[in-house]
Amino acid sequence: MQYLKEKTILITGITDEGSLAMSIARQVREEGGTVICSGLGRTAHHSGLSDRARDFLDKTYEAFETTVKKELGDDTLTFPLDVTLDGSIQDFCDALKAKGISLNGFLHSIAMDKTIKAGVVIKSILDVTKDEFFGAMDVSAYSLVSLTRGLIHSDLLKKNSSILALSYLGAEKVAYHPYKNIGVAKAALERIVVELAHELGTSHQIKVNAIRFSPYTGSKAGSAIQGLAEAVEFCDKHSPLGNAQPEDLAYESAYLLRSEGRVTGEIRNVDGGYHIRG
Ligand SMILES: NC(=O)c1ccc[n+]([C@@H]2O[C@H](COP(=O)([O-])OP(=O)(O)OC[C@H]3O[C@@H](n4cnc5c(N)ncnc54)[C@H](O)[C@@H]3O)[C@@H](O)[C@H]2O)c1
Repeated sequence: MQYLKEKTILITGITDEGSLAMSIARQVREEGGTVICSGLGRTAHHSGLSDRARDFLDKTYEAFETTVKKELGDDTLTFPLDVTLDGSIQDFCDALKAKGISLNGFLHSIAMDKTIKAGVVIKSILDVTKDEFFGAMDVSAYSLVSLTRGLIHSDLLKKNSSILALSYLGAEKVAYHPYKNIGVAKAALERIVVELAHELGTSHQIKVNAIRFSPYTGSKAGSAIQGLAEAVEFCDKHSPLGNAQPEDLAYESAYLLRSEGRVTGEIRNVDGGYHIRG
């Protein structure tokens, strides 16, 4: 189906080919849409960066641009965006405006939790510091508010636009593997989805939804989570349909990103039915 013909969708959260956002970007194009992509990188609003942090941001942005151009074509527009910096959001909105772009929706596919590091045991909630707690909240939850606000205030989201965020069952329940601090941030993200759905539906006819996806180790974020590989196996065995794959997520995302329909404030499970189990 060409659900997204002549629609322009912003895709955030591409790091490499394994990013869930990349599968969704491909599907948006498959459905006739145009994608523009933002990636984490160094901006004029970063200050006091250590050499290591500068190197990380530069390499992350380079990998993002290379992946987008290779997978989606050289003509795909790319922009740096750090969602924790209001100035970066404003620059990004100004850049879209300068190019005469307006959006029919966007994908929020962004998460970070300093208590999750590859090969490291995830901290218990009792040990999470204030900095770790608010860091995860800032990047993984509040960013949905700040990015949406930036786009709305710059008049970049058309009427009937659709906003979609990615979440996980660990927002609500203690997951098979430790999800802890980021689970709390995902709970906030989902609550923000519901509040924004109410406000923006009323004011702008804009829909806001989230999808909880199966555990997936093919991305950078997923591969760092302690015990996720075992969770993938367990959930696959115990889901009526087996784990949902990135293609399943992409198909459902493109459907929710379309301008038609009156589905909003929904937290949809794309997980092969795992969530119905006791
Ligand atoms: N992998 C899984 O098992 C799984 C399951 C369900 C939901 N999700 C969610 O899907 C989304 C995408 O994750 P993924 O698995 O594709 O991993 P990923 O590592 O490919 O994507 C995470 C993205 O967040 C971006 N990001 C982090 N800090 C940022 C900042 N300050 N500003 C802008 N961007 C920033 C990273 O650059 C990266 O592109 C996340 O919200 C994740 O929680 C993942």
